[in-house]
Amino acid sequence: MIFTVAIDGPAAAGKGTISRAVAARFGFAHLDTGLLYRAVGVLGGDPAQAARCLRPEDLTRADLRSLEAGQAASRVAAIPEVRAALVDFQRRFARRQGGAVLDGRDIGTVICPEAEAKLYVTASPQVRAHRRWCEVGGDEAVVLAEVQERDARDMGRADAPLRPAQDAVILDTSAMTIDEAVDRAVAVIAARRGEHRRG
Ligand code: CDP
Repeated sequence: MIFTVAIDGPAAAGKGTISRAVAARFGFAHLDTGLLYRAVGVLGGDPAQAARCLRPEDLTRADLRSLEAGQAASRVAAIPEVRAALVDFQRRFARRQGGAVLDGRDIGTVICPEAEAKLYVTASPQVRAHRRWCEVGGDEAVVLAEVQERDARDMGRADAPLRPAQDAVILDTSAMTIDEAVDRAVAVIAARRGEHRRG
């Protein structure tokens, strides 16, 4: 059975939490594609070369979740050679047997336009910054500025800019608890699975 769930959206919208919960609920494999770009960003050197030579252990580094790694990720993510080097791995993951959930910025638009279920998870910048601040601490105004700077870069780049796929279901989680957001996502995917099975 091949079934891809594409979950895209801006920084700290809740994609990771929703993706992990959905993957567990349906027994699908999960790939946080942001980790690929974060790893390339922190490795240094020539980013395109780093992307071509990425190893599994690079994705388990302890420093990938920092604000600095997020900024480094969004800078290298604008380089077309970096994105090109990561496409095949993500596509193979998406179409693996048994089902897959991928979260990122361009999963439903570029990596897997044929995904059976697409969600665009978003929330207001203030809500997203507050959630990220609860994870990383520090000065909340600095976290908000970081989130907004990264969103602007991700939406404004020429190659694979962040935007909802035409056929994505938009999930604005600003006023939802995480449980509500997960329930909504599960309902959307369950409906698509039903159509897929009948199809
Ligand atoms: O967790 P958060 O939403 O803050 O970020 P992330 O998903 O780990 O992504 C970090 C950065 O990698 C983003 O700001 C994007 O610039 C880039 N990225 C991308 O360009 N395409 C993806 N599929 C995933 C991440």
